Amino acid sequence: MGRKRKILVTGGAGYIGSHVVCMLCDLGHAVTIFDNMSLGREENIDLRARFVKGDILNDQDLDLLFSDEFEVIFHFAALKAAGDSMITPELFAVNNISGTISLLNTAIKYQVAAFIFSSSAAVYGNPRYLPIDEKHPRDPINYYGYTKLAIEENLSWYSRIKPIKYAALRYFNATGYDIEGRIRGKEKNPGNLSPIVMETASGMRKSMKVFGDDYDTPDGTCIRDYIHVNDLAEAHILAMDYIFENKRNLTVNLGTGSGYSVLEVIEKAIEISGQPVPYEIGGRRPGDPPELFADCTLAEKELGWKAKYSDIETIIKSMCPVYLDS
Ligand code: UFG
Repeated sequence: MGRKRKILVTGGAGYIGSHVVCMLCDLGHAVTIFDNMSLGREENIDLRARFVKGDILNDQDLDLLFSDEFEVIFHFAALKAAGDSMITPELFAVNNISGTISLLNTAIKYQVAAFIFSSSAAVYGNPRYLPIDEKHPRDPINYYGYTKLAIEENLSWYSRIKPIKYAALRYFNATGYDIEGRIRGKEKNPGNLSPIVMETASGMRKSMKVFGDDYDTPDGTCIRDYIHVNDLAEAHILAMDYIFENKRNLTVNLGTGSGYSVLEVIEKAIEISGQPVPYEIGGRRPGDPPELFADCTLAEKELGWKAKYSDIETIIKSMCPVYLDS
């Protein structure tokens, strides 16, 4: 691993951000968390990091924040509910696009060297072939995916004109909780499958819906490429080291290369938690492709990275303490 760095993590009290902060602190980096706490959890704020409450949309907050010098920014502060983005695109435009541009402009002003951006497989839209590699056409089918694409394009332009390098990390389906059980704050209002399954196993929800069982897949439910958040965290840190070592930008998929169906996830949760997960089969959710999985050979080649914790047993086991022990 590289030398100790001064690092800013926006959204560092949120789901993925808090896991990355934890790993950065383990490695001895000097971390500042910047979060407006709209989706962050107080209990997920790492006590080894400095915490600054503020908003990327507030220029004064940003200028105050950058009175400290940072070499690297990990940017997680964003909205991510793809369905909501088709109802209130204006909120996503302001938070995900304007907010990121403000942060980026501040980064340029204060000579930050590296920007690690949470991108998404949502930039690809409906798969034209599988597995999806980084050359797959980028054609989002929701506004959320468009916000990620818009920032990727801005990063590419900025890095051509200004002395900043970036990594755009296209996550497939982020899931799981810290393997060592150190992150305990549940995601607020989750819209994704695995937290909903675990909320149902814990009794927080009476039942859940499976969105369609008539897809052209072995059990009729959709298949996704689930990637454990500890694996994601490791990839972020390798991406930072890559930028400093190679002085080059990087855009890579982060997934496993294979997937699980909705019913496989539910059945594994029942088996491992020992709790019932009552569900009904509902209609298809608009915009859901039957199957999605990543080609991750580029991340392996460039970063020497491969998922270690992303089998379905490890994923569900890591979620049990968070959802069942409270
Ligand atoms: N699902 C259900 N019931 C639920 C929730 C989800 O059956 O209550 C199903 C969905 O229909 C889908 C699968 O579980 O088939 C996974 O759904 P998620 O909402 O967890 O994830 P998506 O694949 O729709 O999207 C996620 C992120 C996006 C990202 C995308 C990239 O939310 O931001 O992965 O692969 F872009």
